[in-house]
Amino acid sequence: MMKNFIYANPTKIIFGKGSIANITSEIPVSSNVLVLYGGGSIRSNGVYDQVMSALSDHTVLEFSGIEANPHYETCLKAVEFIKKNNIDFLLAVGGGSVLDATKFIAAASQFTGNNPWDILVKHGHNIETALPFGAVITLPATGSEMNNGGVITRAATEEKLAFSSTHTFPIFSVLDPETTYSLPIKQISNGIVDAFVHVIEQYLTVNSNKLLLQDYMAESILQVLVQEAPALIQNGYDYDSRANFMWAATWALNGWIACGVEEDWATHMIGHELTALYGLDHAQTLAIILPGLLHIMKIQKSQKIARLGQVIFNIHEDDAERQLDLTIQAIEKFFNAVGIKTCLSDYGLNSEAIAPIVARFADRGWKLGECKNIESEQIKEILELRL
Ligand code: NZQ
Ligand code: ZN
Repeated sequence: MMKNFIYANPTKIIFGKGSIANITSEIPVSSNVLVLYGGGSIRSNGVYDQVMSALSDHTVLEFSGIEANPHYETCLKAVEFIKKNNIDFLLAVGGGSVLDATKFIAAASQFTGNNPWDILVKHGHNIETALPFGAVITLPATGSEMNNGGVITRAATEEKLAFSSTHTFPIFSVLDPETTYSLPIKQISNGIVDAFVHVIEQYLTVNSNKLLLQDYMAESILQVLVQEAPALIQNGYDYDSRANFMWAATWALNGWIACGVEEDWATHMIGHELTALYGLDHAQTLAIILPGLLHIMKIQKSQKIARLGQVIFNIHEDDAERQLDLTIQAIEKFFNAVGIKTCLSDYGLNSEAIAPIVARFADRGWKLGECKNIESEQIKEILELRL
């Protein structure tokens, strides 16, 4: 049954070649702007110059060095900088990590509690206000450019926690497909897999086949990713392929396909621990976990797995069990085909890597998945399948 829902997405999207110039009129000229970015990709690909030229009449300061899987410790430095320099508008320029960090910084700089880590412990429910911010996204993957979520890593304790709040939507996001031309192939592969799994988390659940619009829309996004993957992986500079990829990644996680449906997100929650403890890229963790999770949850999700096989991978087996197995295999093959390996051993991890993850979930007592039936015991089983 379609659940009741309320949907609002306030982020203005500014899409296309040369669109960075539009930010001039999106940020009040009286603002004290802080431009936040990562390790320097925007300096070598010309994005930094475009941003600075658009902001030439604004008062602008910079904060750089936001890491991939952004660190809480770095975010706190930015908060201090903001307070010291009376910054009142933030502009994130980069991938999901820079955007997520900016969302957290926007909230933490206005947080009245004693300890900003509480924002993450409470998953953002205690955010009451945040500085306004815009974004220029340069890596299609996370959907962070049109959602209100973020994920922050505390380096000191190797914890990676997610938050979201109605106060942390970007006011605007610029999506210029040409900014993706400088991406290393590995990040394109990561982006395809991340966006694919975002759709899966919202679509491949116990949802009946009755929620027509959400299902067709989710399948369209998957179709675009699967269809464009070969061109993207050849690293061709085809504008339309890049544009299709960028827009599909945004729609994979802008909240729209989640309206009224059950959601899973267990693959992401387990994957975050692989990043926190062993430093794997976010998409690598998803490519490892998802095939194991689908195997364990095969019966619960059978209707949707079978349908995904038919619609996306053209698998039409009379034997129901075989339909499910071939579909799960097709997903794993797709990840491999785009260049992402899918076993723990591919990343130098063995059975010893499993116990610390299982212990974390046992301590937290989290019940994951759309039926809240994935606990530490199932997580152990999933990880053991992925050695
Ligand atoms: O730091 P710089 O120099 O900018 O380099 C980055 C980084 O090294 C580089 N890069 C980005 N755009 C580029 C580029 N290099 C060349 N050309 C460009 N145009 O790519 C590297 C990875 O960037 P990062 O931002 O870390 O990647 P991604 O966008 O995949 O973000 C990953 C983070 O997002 C979180 C993940 O957990 C992870 O921390 N997620 C955020 C979500 C959200 N906000 O909704 C949902 C996701 O599920 C995910 O959890
Ligand atoms: Zn993700």
